[in-house]
Amino acid sequence: MKAHAVSSSSEEHRSPIRLARPKGPCSVTPFRHAPTASAKVSLDGICLNYKVNGGRHLLALDDINLQVQPGEFLCIVGPSGCGKSTLLHLIAGLQRSTSGTVKVDGKLVEGPGTDRILIFQELGLFPWLTVGQNVEFGMKMKGISKTERREKIRYYLRLVHLSQFEDSYTHQLSGGMRQRVALARALATEPDVLLMDEPFAALDAQTRDLLHDELERIWAETGRTIIFVTHNVREAVRLGGRVALFTFRPGRVKREFKIDLPRPRQLEDSSVARCAREILDDLREEINKSLEEEYGDGR
Ligand SMILES: Nc1ncnc2c1ncn2[C@@H]1O[C@H](COP(=O)(O)OP(=O)(O)O)[C@@H](O)[C@H]1O
Ligand SMILES: [Mg+2]
Repeated sequence: MKAHAVSSSSEEHRSPIRLARPKGPCSVTPFRHAPTASAKVSLDGICLNYKVNGGRHLLALDDINLQVQPGEFLCIVGPSGCGKSTLLHLIAGLQRSTSGTVKVDGKLVEGPGTDRILIFQELGLFPWLTVGQNVEFGMKMKGISKTERREKIRYYLRLVHLSQFEDSYTHQLSGGMRQRVALARALATEPDVLLMDEPFAALDAQTRDLLHDELERIWAETGRTIIFVTHNVREAVRLGGRVALFTFRPGRVKREFKIDLPRPRQLEDSSVARCAREILDDLREEINKSLEEEYGDGR
């Protein structure tokens, strides 16, 4: 494991020079970790080594330390292959780290749990079930009574503006509507923590803008903790209260940015663009590293 000169969060953010950096007009500030006791999700020294061909290993994540507070909206950005999905799988309990710990509410994560849910681009909706039945599915698995399920289907479909479509099948819906069904299904199980892995990456710009608005509203209304992964810096600034920027392989926290911009925000706000540019300057270095690795052979 390498030492973290600039990259890792804690050392850098303790530095008086970094902390003394004046706030720019876009309010991007280096972030100082809050005490861990109150954290909703706590990642401590996470390393993950994948076994790859020929007995070799690939260090995907290296010494990740992150605290996510209850009700926080944290966005994680980084180049493709930096371990973003891997990190969400670890928090979801779908995978084990090689070393380090993941805790939710101070308890070690040892497998999947109903307190966390992962939403990704391939929605995993069942085409043979109606919208309402898809939303009901997770609740059935959780053993929620039929009366309560009915109530919650109605409540969460209203929350994502799909009340009219309860009896439709998913193939009758647009991509954006399907994404909202997936969101309603996830929310209906009432997890404390929503883990979102590039959920809007495949949508057209207008649909994505609408879903940003809805997600922001739902987050404000329900007080859920959200960890949202994207490679799109503007999207991260649009949504997040904090943005953690990851390095290219192995994934480490290169820098964290607190986003103090007032809500609701829009992707095209000039303040969002300014924040994004500041983060992009840092990200570009990592993207170049990933391109060199991918295309650098024989140059
Ligand atoms: N099951 C696996 N076995 C081996 N290597 C993997 C596996 N899953 C992911 N990787 C590698 O780990 C790195 C991080 O992957 P991933 O978490 O999917 O990155 P991201 O989501 O940031 O694009 C990549 O280099 C990827 O090739
Ligand atoms: Mg990914």
